[in-house]
Amino acid sequence: MSPSEESLLDPHQARSFGDALSLWFGRSARDLPWRGQRDGYRALVSEAMLQQTQVDRVKEPFERFMARFPDVVSLANGSEEEVLALWQGLGYYRRARLLHAAAQAIRDQHGGVVPQDAATLLSLPGVGRYTAGAIASIVFGERAPIVDGNVARVFARFTARPGKPGDRDFDARCWELASSVASHVSKPGIVNEAIMELGATVCRKHDPDCDHCPVRQGCLGHASGEPDRFPEVRTRAPRTTIHHHVLVCLRRSDSEDGVEVLLVQRPEKGLWARMWQPPSIESGKEMAPDMLTSGFGLSHQPVGIHRFEHRTTHRDIMFHVNRPEAPGETAFSEDDLLRGLGSPAHRWQQVERLDELGLSNPHRRIIDVAISKQSDER
Ligand code: ADE
Repeated sequence: MSPSEESLLDPHQARSFGDALSLWFGRSARDLPWRGQRDGYRALVSEAMLQQTQVDRVKEPFERFMARFPDVVSLANGSEEEVLALWQGLGYYRRARLLHAAAQAIRDQHGGVVPQDAATLLSLPGVGRYTAGAIASIVFGERAPIVDGNVARVFARFTARPGKPGDRDFDARCWELASSVASHVSKPGIVNEAIMELGATVCRKHDPDCDHCPVRQGCLGHASGEPDRFPEVRTRAPRTTIHHHVLVCLRRSDSEDGVEVLLVQRPEKGLWARMWQPPSIESGKEMAPDMLTSGFGLSHQPVGIHRFEHRTTHRDIMFHVNRPEAPGETAFSEDDLLRGLGSPAHRWQQVERLDELGLSNPHRRIIDVAISKQSDER
């Protein structure tokens, strides 16, 4: 075992590591909306939003969410539709559904009070070891460990440990080190958050700023002269590309001087489950226009107006944006279209009120493109 790994497991050394980080965090912590007033609910929401999403992208949606759902019971009582609509911009909508389910479990099984200990928090939908540890330690002071990507990087560098995140031994070792630190320091919550903060702002993945690191003296990665060799980079599964052929149907609103767009609801499971979007045909290969004509049940070939690529964690999605016909041509048959798509739930939604429904970012973009093309033609 390397000296630094031992040092983090040794009570005395773990304490000095924690003290240096707490002092540094007191001076350097970023001012983030969920750090002012701390409570279990705000931590639950912020941690759900922060999973796989950068801090800067979470600040505004967090404030918006808190204004609408100020406590756990208001969230539990909210509709899924509204929760998804407020999640707009954050992506990975499964997290929003799990957060909603967690709020309902807290309302129904915990008297509307967010549990304070990691073991009970772990029983909530969508709450894993990291989130349970973060809430229990940061808000309630429990000696619970946490490991996220930032923490794993700090430990890998400090101990110059070979291995990759995602490997069983590597991950297990990070949790052991985190447990040792959390059990020996006087303020485990502050130290846990400080390690995360160090990873996010100083011990960055690329270009680590060792000159400003409060624990560089004991750091073997720093001593090696090549701290960014740790941790080793994870080899990713090859990415696949799929093609989404989207048909944007617009019409004037009956009652108001606005525009409506035809939306269908996605299936119960899979990508963007139960969210709303313009009708779409998805396939492993790009489809020829005449295949789209029959696929969408149209009498005319659709007109391609735009295409762009959207990257998700595992796939690249090529979006091909179409509209049913050139302006002025006969309207398409809505019944045929929906029948051709397997009769999904559908609605005509006013474009000014898209915020009321859960739509993914690329689908919002698709509608914006179709509307701006239409206005250009007027
Ligand atoms: N503070 C508590 N949790 C955090 C997180 N996930 N990212 C940044 N700061 C945090």
